[in-house]
Amino acid sequence: MGALFFTFEGIEGAGKSTLARWLSQRLQQEGVSVWFTYEPWHPCLREVLLGQSDLRREEELLLFLADRAIHTRHISQALAEGKTVVCDRYADSTLAYQGYARGIDLEWVRQLNRFATAGLQPVRTYLLDLPVEMGLQRQRERNRIGAEEIAFHERVRNGFLAEAQREPQRYLVLDATQPLEELQKLLWQDTARLLG
Ligand code: TYD
Repeated sequence: MGALFFTFEGIEGAGKSTLARWLSQRLQQEGVSVWFTYEPWHPCLREVLLGQSDLRREEELLLFLADRAIHTRHISQALAEGKTVVCDRYADSTLAYQGYARGIDLEWVRQLNRFATAGLQPVRTYLLDLPVEMGLQRQRERNRIGAEEIAFHERVRNGFLAEAQREPQRYLVLDATQPLEELQKLLWQDTARLLG
């Protein structure tokens, strides 16, 4: 059985990280050697990208791509060593956030993603989909969420859904409003099938 590359995508509060970690552990129980990872990946770039810095969209795009280029080198290395890689966010996040939501030309983002990843693509992308208000409320229960922010995340959500339609053979869309056990069941059915 070859090493596989899985990614998890979705808006904030969809439960990506929880399920990605769960899948990594489940795979390990089956004796699969796994590397669980996430983006933004490089600690320095992560600090800049997730900090308070007021970046223009072009600057943000290039930093996410620089991070992905470095990260992909490590992912490819892990795959070559026979490790299955489970990654919380990858190239599709750049399409959804910097492309669909922040309005950078999609074809341009696609080309830059290909450049940054040297064409490496996950065998399966799990898209955890749920209404924006639900996701954001899960994340920051007590804060009020502005209309502008909701509109932004709607564009992210719809961007992911559009990409899932564009590449139905790679994406599996999961309704993230379902109970965790149900999601785990659906997820494992699919992963186990891919593992053969
Ligand atoms: P993070 O704190 O990792 O949390 P989560 O993945 O649970 O949302 O935040 C990552 C943030 O970076 C998130 O708001 C999405 C954003 N992002 C992009 O805008 N473009 C990208 O290419 C990536 C990887 C992330």
